[in-house]
Amino acid sequence: MEPQLVIDALSARPGGAAVLALRGPRIAVVGGFVRDVLLGRDPREVDLVVEGDVRALAEQIGGNVTHHAAFLASHVSRDGLELELTQARRERYPHPGALPLVEPASLEEDLPRRDFTVNALAVTLDDAQLRAPDRALEDLGARRLRVFHDRSFIDDPTRVLRLARYSARLGFVVDHNTARLASEASLDTVSGARIAGELRLMLEEPDPVVPLATVATRLQLSVDPSLVARALALAPADAERSLTILAAVAREAPADWLDSLELTARERAVIRSAEHAPLLAAAAVAARRPSELRDALRDVPVEAVAIAGALGASEEARRWLGELRHVKLEIGGDDLLAAGVPAGPELGARLERTLRRKLDGEIAAGREAELASALGSGA
Ligand code: CTP
Repeated sequence: MEPQLVIDALSARPGGAAVLALRGPRIAVVGGFVRDVLLGRDPREVDLVVEGDVRALAEQIGGNVTHHAAFLASHVSRDGLELELTQARRERYPHPGALPLVEPASLEEDLPRRDFTVNALAVTLDDAQLRAPDRALEDLGARRLRVFHDRSFIDDPTRVLRLARYSARLGFVVDHNTARLASEASLDTVSGARIAGELRLMLEEPDPVVPLATVATRLQLSVDPSLVARALALAPADAERSLTILAAVAREAPADWLDSLELTARERAVIRSAEHAPLLAAAAVAARRPSELRDALRDVPVEAVAIAGALGASEEARRWLGELRHVKLEIGGDDLLAAGVPAGPELGARLERTLRRKLDGEIAAGREAELASALGSGA
């Protein structure tokens, strides 16, 4: 394994030269960046581990700097460079599933506290040396995920979810003992908010369905890959991809479990709509004209409409999402007021009826026809 490749990849990053020019305590690039470069993959964020205070180093680089004193960490954002600096630490878990208590330590102590051996590789910047704890290189070569010790999933059960995510993303096998430990680990000690955090990371993966299916039972999800694919194909550009997938897999989950995850109001609302997706699909298919399709789908988030489409109303969902929901009147309330209609519910009702006629092709195009319709008797 050639550590110089990691240094070269770092120097090729925007702002990489500034990172390599840092002076101070011993610094190493660590984790996913090293793993991915050595695998020939495109690395994502740059993580640095520092034997000493990270604040001063972060300020040396400059840009937008955020400090997280309690976590001995700083984040730098500068001209396309996203850099996470953490002080080398040892960790103690006050009880299973809790956030660890951290205290400064050496780089050598820091590496084996991590989740999997292949995530614990580091390259020190001053001498371009690879720092690899026991078995890390062997596991990287074998494309294998392995925890460092038997308590790993007890200390931090979110690693069970990370295991599924890395295994799917990297195409790595899971070491036998690690798989057994993961299957025995309980998520009960972890807060819902942390589980939701890991779930969101999974949803952001290029292909989230495989890791979601791996943890479906634990997270009380129903993962139907073909349904997810159909919903994504129907989802319009303004749909949030991760939310479409979340709602597709969580729509049958028990409400009290979903509540415990402390999801955002928007996530919860879209899942709640998706719970009714079979009924929405039936109502959409039963609609005899565009205005009735609007009645069925108008207040439904686009992500949930895509799921209803995937459940049997694909033509209707496509028509609503691609065309009908964008149909607006050219006239507004002001036009009716100017024509003498008094303010009040009557005005809204006239506009609503005119829009229905427009959707159903019952009036000619243009303002004049809309106005005539809105003002006409029986409107
Ligand atoms: N880590 C861990 N246990 C966790 C979360 C993170 O040991 N529950 C460690 C990982 O081993 C990693 C580092 O903390 O080395 C940073 O985690 P993260 O930012 O999630 O991983 P990256 O390496 O930045 O990203 P990637 O997803 O590409 O691996």
